[in-house]
Amino acid sequence: MGRREWCFFISLIPLVEFLSITSASTLQQQQCADSGGGPAGVRVGYWSPSSSRYSPVSSIDTSLFTHLYYSSVSIDEKSYAVAPPSTDESSLLAAFSSTIKSGSPSVKTILSIGTNEYKVDVSNAAFSRMASDKILRGVFINSSVELARANGFDGLDLSWIFPATQMDMENLGVLLAGWRARIIEESATNSLSEPLLLTATLYFSNHLFGMPDSNLDYPVDDISKSIDWANILTFGFHGGSNVTTVDAPLYDTTSHFSVSYGVISWLDAGVPPCKLVMGIPLFGRSWFLRNKAKNGIGSPTAAAGTKQRKSNQTGIIAYAEVEEYMNSESTVVTYDNQSVAEYFYNGDLWVSFDSAQVVQHKLEFAARSQLLGYFLWTIGFDDTNSTISKQASESWHQYARGGFGTIHAGGSNQYVAFNSSSISFGSSYSKTLSYLLSSVVLLVTLFH
Ligand SMILES: *[C@@H]1O[C@H](CO)[C@@H](O)[C@H](O)[C@H]1NC(C)=O
Ligand SMILES: *[C@@H]1O[C@H](CO)[C@@H](O)[C@H](O)[C@H]1NC(C)=O
Ligand SMILES: *[C@@H]1O[C@H](CO)[C@@H](O)[C@H](O)[C@H]1NC(C)=O
Ligand SMILES: *[C@@H]1O[C@H](CO)[C@@H](O)[C@H](O)[C@H]1NC(C)=O
Ligand SMILES: *[C@@H]1O[C@H](CO)[C@@H](O)[C@H](O)[C@H]1NC(C)=O
Ligand SMILES: *[C@@H]1O[C@H](CO)[C@@H](O)[C@H](O)[C@H]1NC(C)=O
Repeated sequence: MGRREWCFFISLIPLVEFLSITSASTLQQQQCADSGGGPAGVRVGYWSPSSSRYSPVSSIDTSLFTHLYYSSVSIDEKSYAVAPPSTDESSLLAAFSSTIKSGSPSVKTILSIGTNEYKVDVSNAAFSRMASDKILRGVFINSSVELARANGFDGLDLSWIFPATQMDMENLGVLLAGWRARIIEESATNSLSEPLLLTATLYFSNHLFGMPDSNLDYPVDDISKSIDWANILTFGFHGGSNVTTVDAPLYDTTSHFSVSYGVISWLDAGVPPCKLVMGIPLFGRSWFLRNKAKNGIGSPTAAAGTKQRKSNQTGIIAYAEVEEYMNSESTVVTYDNQSVAEYFYNGDLWVSFDSAQVVQHKLEFAARSQLLGYFLWTIGFDDTNSTISKQASESWHQYARGGFGTIHAGGSNQYVAFNSSSISFGSSYSKTLSYLLSSVVLLVTLFH
């Protein structure tokens, strides 16, 4: 896409957002009417076995969630079955569902099968090979269903981060369809249980940026048909940046790396809002400033922030650890209205993160977009009072009261107050505008 089209596109983002939210297509709404999640939507938490030393499963406040994910196990690159967990982790895996359900029987548990973060290339190559072959797909799918049932899970999730070619994308569609078929078949022979849920953890937008193939889009129709919902990774946008930047802004008028862009791209591609679940990071992004006196957004950095106890990764800091800095007198905190993000600096440390206030605004956006729900990544990073998990659950109940998958009563006017643009629209005017804009959006999509 040329520079001029791009600028044009950027300037349209607020309007496009308005368009998508007021006119989510009739077809999308119909698909929503008879599906998923129940009247209160989903409030999802990902739990990582690596957090068990400071956030054991028994410490999770299950009342704050409808679905809890065990994240994750991976694929075995020799057999293409789900990789058996290590000895340490197999006891955690075995105890996960029973521990959660002993206190809250209605909470559903989901086993996420994903790219192994310690060997991304090998693991993604295995997903790619498996998805391309009918027999191997059968091996993988069957092993996943067996492992889920053997450990009392209610569902399965695919967290392949990320398919990298158009062939991968096509095969992903075939894999999900075959998986759904197997789940239906299995539930028919297993009259004691509900069919397993099937979800996928996907890139923040339906188009993948920065890949060798610049035309890489998800198979949106296959995804919509085969899975219960998609959890989209609407965070972690700027890990490699050499200047300070907010890492998961709701809005960004200068690039497509924002939560709102991602959500709207999926809706515009045709995924019904009731199949979309938006991610909230429970981690912040940290840097050391090159010059302490230059501490705003866009300031030069010297290095990624040091590894913290919980995250065990440079440049990543858990919300609980952010909070420890926030209690210090020498920490200066800024809430950025424009992007809806928060950051602080303390000496030469600079951190952007999602505060309770940011989470509240993001969930207001998710509810107005009529999404199915949200997920928190990962819940072990919250503080011991579950501050962010509580804020999220409360905001969701507050904003999403109107129900899901139906257009809220009252027509489009109520969305106008939504602060994506300072222009104020009347409802008849907005219809004409929507029509005009949709042609522009189509045009822009073709350039894309
Ligand atoms: C998977 O399980 C189904 C049902 O038991 C069976 O028909 C099929 O052959 C299995 N596929 C493989 C590759 O094991
Ligand atoms: C950051 O990296 C870009 C190139 O990726 C470079 O043009 C820019 O000067 C760098 N900025 C700083 C502050 O190092
Ligand atoms: C921290 O990460 C390293 C790899 O970078 C890993 O070897 C180590 O086991 C991790 N430590 C913990 C406590 O998870
Ligand atoms: C930020 O948002 C608040 C309302 O949430 C508003 O009162 C305030 O004027 C805004 N500030 C700026 C600088 O836009
Ligand atoms: C948790 O809540 C208690 C009581 O409100 C408070 O005293 C404590 O400081 C909180 N701890 C954290 C880590 O927020
Ligand atoms: C809404 O956006 C306008 C213009 O960008 C800004 O001045 C105002 O402060 C924003 N209001 C809120 C509530 O964020």
